Amino acid sequence: MNRDDFNVLGTGVIYFDNGATTLKPRILSEGVSDYYNNYSSNAHRGDYQMSIKASFMYEESRKIVCDFIGAKNPKQIVFTSGTTDSINKIVFGYFKNVLKSGDEVLLTKSEHASNLLPWFELADALNLRIKYIELDDNHEVTLDNVVKAISPKTKVISIAQISNVVGDIRPIKEITEYAHKNNIFVLVDGAQSAAHLKIDVCDLDIDFLAFSAHKMCGPTGVGVIYVKEDILNDINPIIFGGGMNADFSTDGTKIYKTMPDRLEAGTPNIAGVIGFGYVIKYLMNIGLDNIHSYELRLKKYALKRLKEIPQIKIYNENSQSGIITFNYDGIFPQDLAIYLDKYNICVRAGNHCAKILKDEINIKNTLRISLYFYNSEDEVDRLIEVLKNPNIKEEII
Ligand SMILES: Cc1ncc(COP(=O)(O)O)c(C=O)c1O
Repeated sequence: MNRDDFNVLGTGVIYFDNGATTLKPRILSEGVSDYYNNYSSNAHRGDYQMSIKASFMYEESRKIVCDFIGAKNPKQIVFTSGTTDSINKIVFGYFKNVLKSGDEVLLTKSEHASNLLPWFELADALNLRIKYIELDDNHEVTLDNVVKAISPKTKVISIAQISNVVGDIRPIKEITEYAHKNNIFVLVDGAQSAAHLKIDVCDLDIDFLAFSAHKMCGPTGVGVIYVKEDILNDINPIIFGGGMNADFSTDGTKIYKTMPDRLEAGTPNIAGVIGFGYVIKYLMNIGLDNIHSYELRLKKYALKRLKEIPQIKIYNENSQSGIITFNYDGIFPQDLAIYLDKYNICVRAGNHCAKILKDEINIKNTLRISLYFYNSEDEVDRLIEVLKNPNIKEEII
């Protein structure tokens, strides 16, 4: 789908590392260049036409993101530098003020470092207890296991909608429904889902959502926090400076603005946020449902072809996203990734920043293919051809 929109694909590269970051369609650089070439100025600070246009376009992006995830009000959308930044701002701007010693936070062992380390830090600071939701035999999260992990002390469930290694889609709607009946907050890490699934934050009843632009055809250095309306003004800034304050005086008194400005201190990534607006419209035009069903068809095809190679062990055959995690018997994953690169095929090898998942699957490193709508069956065929090379081990040594 839409391969012509991506310059890089014209070079013959086969890009299967979309979980790390996606390729960028030309519309992104067009939007960013338009800002830099034609109205480069600060936003929210100038009373002249160029700055008014920059502010307008920046706020348009906020409205586009709001529509994209089905939020009620653009004020619920904060621009950050990425999912990591978003989760840290939620954990330390909100949960630091509402949790107390002995409270429990539920995570999973397949979470990304960005949804573990901020909680470890807060747990140390407040004496919280971190508990892990058990994964099932496919290393996936089930509602039953979430329910089993909950105790009267559970206050937060912080979970990715799609794991970046297992690729399982977690039952977020069911989790929030159960959690809210028990007065538990749900923070959703949407880093791997926002680009691939239609998200409706109201239907899913999510309290906080975090995601990154660069994993959805957008620029690096831009991310999003969504906050539910009833807790919107309870989230405090953790970065202070210009743009987020309404007033301050010599005696140290200060008044901070309301959301979302209070969380956007300093000059934001104006070009990136504007470019992000362009690519979200681009993705909405293709349709998230079309993207997801295309990825599932392509994943099915890739699984069928990978199974032709007896040395390959796949770890997440059943998951319903475009992520395939596997190993090739007798070849270290990083060596295989370097070998594939010789054939212009980009994949990811390693622990994928999910360093405690090895406790569950007993394997530290794997190879990961993460598909997107511009990948094709021809590309999968080429991967299989290269993996079937009878001299593969000799070439690696
Ligand atoms: C599930 C998940 N959460 C969080 C992140 C962190 O995203 P970023 O590096 O854009 O902040 C990633 C990145 O790979 C991820 O896959």
